[in-house]
Order: sequence, then C-alpha cells, then structure tokens
Amino acid sequence: MTTVEINASKSYQVKIGHSLLSQIGAEINKLGYVRKVCIVSDSNVWPLYGEKVLTSLLKAGLQACYFLIPAGEDSKNGANYLDLLNHLAENRLTRTDVIAALGGGVVGDLAGFAAATFLRGIRFVQIPTTLLAAVDSSVGGKTAIDLPSGKNLAGAFCQPSMVLCDIDTLNSLPEDVFRDGCAEIIKTAILFDPSLFKTLCQDTLAFDRESVIACCVTHKRDIVRADEFDRGERQKLNLGHTVGHCVETLSNYTLSHGKSVAIGTAIIARAAAKLGLCSQETATKIQWLLMNFELPTTTTLSAKNLAACARTDKKRTGTTINLIIPKEIGSCILYPISINDIESIIEAGL
Ligand code: GLY
Repeated sequence: MTTVEINASKSYQVKIGHSLLSQIGAEINKLGYVRKVCIVSDSNVWPLYGEKVLTSLLKAGLQACYFLIPAGEDSKNGANYLDLLNHLAENRLTRTDVIAALGGGVVGDLAGFAAATFLRGIRFVQIPTTLLAAVDSSVGGKTAIDLPSGKNLAGAFCQPSMVLCDIDTLNSLPEDVFRDGCAEIIKTAILFDPSLFKTLCQDTLAFDRESVIACCVTHKRDIVRADEFDRGERQKLNLGHTVGHCVETLSNYTLSHGKSVAIGTAIIARAAAKLGLCSQETATKIQWLLMNFELPTTTTLSAKNLAACARTDKKRTGTTINLIIPKEIGSCILYPISINDIESIIEAGL
C-alpha cells in the first residue's frame, strides 16, 4: 500500500492499495468519535461493492445507512443534493458522523458538497472506484453540483478526512471508462512529469496502477498545497478543460469527461504549436500519446460554437480566460487571453 499525506487547510492521508474496501470500517474508526456513516453511492457501484462496505462498517461497530443515485452526470443535481441532506437529517447524523462517497466523480462531488453544508459541515471520506476519481477528483477538496445553466456551478472547497483508493475496484471498470481516467493521467504527465509521460508512452494501458495513481496524487498534493483555493497554480489542472468542458456540454454529455478533455488537450496543443508557444514536436507527442490510448483528438464542432460556450466558462474573470498552454512535456503556463481571442485560438487548434 502507498500512502500520500496531503497538507491543506486540513491534513489527511490518501491510501492506495489492494483489498482496502474490507478495511473501511477500521479506517473510519481511526478518525475518532464516529458513530454513524452514511454511504453515498450509485446504481452501478452499489451492487458491486455496497455489501462489502456495509459489512466492514458494521464489523467495526459503526452504524450505517446509505443513499443511492442513478449513475451518471445527470444525478449531480440540486434535487438529489436536497434529498441527500434530508436523508442525513432523517437518519440523525450529527457533526461527529461521516459521509462515505463510494463511487466516481459524480458521487464524490455530490457527497462532498452535502458534507460541506450539512450542519455547516461534517466529515467525509472519499472511496474512489473510477480511475478518474482516484487520480484527480477525490483529492483536493473540490465539491459541487451542476445547475441547469452549467456544470459545477454550486459548490464548496471542502477537504475530505481520508481517501481510500482500493485499486481492485478498477478491475470492474469498462475499458472505455478506464481510458477516461487515462486522459487525466496524461494531463498530469504533460503538466508536471516527463518521466510519467515516458512510462505512459512505453506501457500504455499496462501501466502499474498503484504507482501511477500515487504519482498523480503526489503532483496533486503539491499543487493543492501551493494553491488550495484555485487562485493561480491550481488552475493548471484545467489543461484541456476549457475547450473540453465545451465539447462535453455541446454533446449534451453524451461524450464523457475524459474523452472531452482529451479533445480539449489536443486542440490546445495544436493551437500552441501554431502560435509558436510550443514546438510542433511537443504538440505531436501529446497527440500521439492520446491516440495511443485510443482517446479522441478531434471534434466536428465549430470554433464559433466552442468559443461561444467557452465565453460562459465559470473560470473566466471579467473579460479574461486563463488558458493552460503546454510549453514542453512537464511544463505548462497560465496564458491569459481576452475572450475576444478565444475563437481564433480554438480555430488554430481544430
Ligand atoms: N480537478 C481539478 C482540481 O481539482 O483543481
């Protein structure tokens, strides 16, 4: 097992290893003063792992209840959020009790936002069961729900009390969903780590899961320590996301987050090369690695439509958007542009 210590406004451990689900009760007891745990999970994950987690909690002497949502981004909505708060209240969770998010990014974001706000804040534990959640969304304390007008528009920074990543759960992921998580790993490699990039080039899907997840979490630890509240450096984690979110939104979420980010990353890399901000060789390497993971790198959407969507990006400040531009593998910069220039930059990368 590998443990990564996170030191943000709250310190906690991320534990990555095999057979961790059966130890969840004992691990949660280590947090102290826990009486009851509400597991939040979805219709895909609960049938696979719900009983194991419940048994582990009861064996550790904890009381447990659970709240399930249909799998998918649509569930990260205000109605489910309020239902979850009511469920917590009806089950009389108190400030010393814990929410356990068992699932991927949707479950983690919804459960985390409920934890941030129920009784003005109770503790929560992330138990990521997708690669994407393991390497990114379960760590760093971003929690949110979607509003009808956009993704993640209501949320809070709220660090979990612990992250338990049982890599055995990744075995049940459809390969396509596993590849989605690979897009975030490739993003991390482009941002910070030429050696991880090389490993991915050599091993593709056969990479060592424990060490690659630990490597991504370690990079995320560093960025969260430097800029927990997303005012500067942390925005680099949005590499490929400004355009990627637009691809995702304009597909009405029929294209997954990982694939949309892959397209966004390839577009920005090609645009950066055309604008002389990185070498053609760097852009080609990025595109090649994405394609090697069978991730998409192009879209039929127009620059005009993508730019119109990008102008509504919540990360926009006034009339400026910070794009993340790869300079070389392992080094990216924040590149503020006027919203009037976004269309021509996207056009350059299509
Ligand atoms: N997923 C991006 C971040 O945590 O900042």
